[in-house]
Amino acid sequence: MEIILLGPQGSGKGTQAARLARQRGLVHLATGEILRAARRAGTELGNLAASYLDAGQLVPDAVMIDLVRQEIRSAPSGVCLDGFPRTLAQAQALDETLAELGRPLDLAVALELPEAMLLERISGRRVCTGCGAVYHIVYAPSRVPCVCDACGGRLEQRSDDQPEAVAQRLRLYREKTAPLLDYYARDRRLREVDARGDVEEVYRRIDALLPVSS
Ligand code: AP5
Repeated sequence: MEIILLGPQGSGKGTQAARLARQRGLVHLATGEILRAARRAGTELGNLAASYLDAGQLVPDAVMIDLVRQEIRSAPSGVCLDGFPRTLAQAQALDETLAELGRPLDLAVALELPEAMLLERISGRRVCTGCGAVYHIVYAPSRVPCVCDACGGRLEQRSDDQPEAVAQRLRLYREKTAPLLDYYARDRRLREVDARGDVEEVYRRIDALLPVSS
């Protein structure tokens, strides 16, 4: 299956995509995490993306489309995309790339959550500076405060989880990404999922939309 997860910042795309990938044997392609990892590694892509990430701006379409094309072409069939597409140009490029590969998109899952809950999830999020693992101070705390369970790295708030950048990201979501819901609804590829409740509950709602796994 080729799946995308859509939804505003903090709706749980990354959390659910990681789980779906694990349970369903899909490749998890998280564009935000690819950019953050590139930045941690000091690569050309990371240096280019840094100012966009901090300001909560979108990295230019040409860069993101090239990046995702390469990632999808080198991935085996069965990708779960999280954070891409975010603009109409990206959505069209994704359809073209998947069509070329004979692997059309099966499903676009849109996670829905009221704004107050988005802000609560974003403000409590902590990420590992070493491996990028994601925690929440209330809902998904690490065993030792501020220390990553997986690699022992230091946990901190993302630079773009500061209030000003969050407001900018949510504005951009409404302006550029929310219109994609219509794009996918038009040919019935869209499914909307209530993202309230704990991680397991939301996962079950998403899983129920997919074919029964063997
Ligand atoms: P990206 O990393 O994709 O960020 P985002 O889309 O802004 O999404 P978030 O990571 O904020 O939220 P999420 O929905 O994944 O929630 P999560 O699972 O972490 O992109 C970052 C930046 O990269 C962009 O601003 C842009 O600059 C650039 N970029 C990336 N892709 C791009 C593209 N295609 N084009 C251009 N630029 C691009 O959950 C949030 C918190 O809630 C966590 O702490 C989690 O533990 C917790 N949580 C999750 N689910 C639950 C639950 N059910 N109950 C309680 N807590 C929960």
